Amino acid sequence: MAERWTPNTWRSKPVKQMPIYADQAKLRAAEQRLASYPPLVFAGEARRLKSSLADVAAGNGFLLQGGDCAESFAEFHPNNIRDTFRVLLQMAVVLTFGGSTPVVKVGRMAGQFAKPRSTDTETIDGVELPSYRGDIINGFDFDPASREPDPDRMVQSYNQSAATLNLLRAFSQGGYADLHQVHRWNLGFVERSPAGERYRDLADRLDETLNFMAACGITAATTPQLRETDFFTSHEALLLPYEEALTRVDSTTGDWYDVSAHMLWIGDRTRQPDHAHVEFLRGVKNPIGLKCGPTSDPDELIRLIDMLNPANEPGRLTLIARMGYEKVQDKLPALIRKVQREGRVVVWACDPMHGNTIKSSTGYKTRPFDRILSEVKDFFSVHQAEGTHPGGVHFELTGQDVTECTGGAQAITDHALAKRYHTHCDPRLNASQALELAFLIAEGLKRSRQQSDRDRRIAAAE
Ligand code: PEP
Ligand code: CO
Repeated sequence: MAERWTPNTWRSKPVKQMPIYADQAKLRAAEQRLASYPPLVFAGEARRLKSSLADVAAGNGFLLQGGDCAESFAEFHPNNIRDTFRVLLQMAVVLTFGGSTPVVKVGRMAGQFAKPRSTDTETIDGVELPSYRGDIINGFDFDPASREPDPDRMVQSYNQSAATLNLLRAFSQGGYADLHQVHRWNLGFVERSPAGERYRDLADRLDETLNFMAACGITAATTPQLRETDFFTSHEALLLPYEEALTRVDSTTGDWYDVSAHMLWIGDRTRQPDHAHVEFLRGVKNPIGLKCGPTSDPDELIRLIDMLNPANEPGRLTLIARMGYEKVQDKLPALIRKVQREGRVVVWACDPMHGNTIKSSTGYKTRPFDRILSEVKDFFSVHQAEGTHPGGVHFELTGQDVTECTGGAQAITDHALAKRYHTHCDPRLNASQALELAFLIAEGLKRSRQQSDRDRRIAAAE
């Protein structure tokens, strides 16, 4: 029998990556305020995402998850939200049309504020201060006041998430995501890049297809899917006091949901089975993600799956592999085989970002585009060899023309990183690098689809 769960049972477990708030009364006041605020998402929406992810787990569909490494108060601007949304739409069109597969779109947006860090403190010129842990916890500026964890930041993050989500809902339902607008999503610097040109060709073909469909009587008026899209939100459920305050009973089912986002995930540093983050997420009914890194062990993974998805419910659990480009071939097959052997239903997604962070010769934290691409390619080839479905990707990206990851068709060099390096945490793909990757993934998807069609034909003939 599983132990009794309530939204606060995590408090009796060991916990990693949690800030220490000096003013406990202020923390309690912020938690109480948040607990009285409206939900950001509805349980029914989380269930709809879960059911789409169940399709992906069954091999029908592909998860596209992406957005900022860390959202910030300073970069809170409608243009940033629009541009990230737009590049995700572009990628989704490329994957849907090029890969002939439905795409489930999930943003790392409207709540992706808290960051795990490799060290508790940071030392600059002999001064040691607490590490920056994301705007929901403390400030980026390197001074003692800014680095002090402040509970009121949780309330500001909630408000920013609510406003961001409001705009995302308007974009996805209000006409911006209409497929007849595909050309208009290709604006600015992306249009002049090679990926942008390829995108223009694809948009032309899509226009022709839409005209053909309209001639057959299929229009936005008859088929709302052409006019609007489902777009979901997600973040790492790292700051547990915040997540607990936003966990509510769904009146329809009587189940607990974390209503801070549709999907929540557990990071690579906080996935210990007997610790607080696993304890918290096991009890909420949202679809959840679990990062799997090079230190993930097959037996421990099954133990985690048992805790997080005891009923083996399809769509509940997405395993997000982030091995590093040199380790995928070595580490991923054992995890996949174990999950297959034990008959567990999961979505396998690939995060090619977090295992490929290096320091550039000019001192910036960066990720070489070639390594990101290599991790994605190996993810596809391992799944092909195992006969399993490469179910999705998880990217840190932005719609802005930043220079944070080296390489890609723009051939960003170590020296060019300084030009527009804006991230508050990890280096992100810019919009044209992200689009370039989408085209490469669409080709991989097409190949894996052809392979499974071939397998089906052979099986039917036998
Ligand atoms: C992240 O997704 O931002 C992150 C910190 O990833 P990981 O837990 O895989 O290192
Ligand atoms: Co990151």
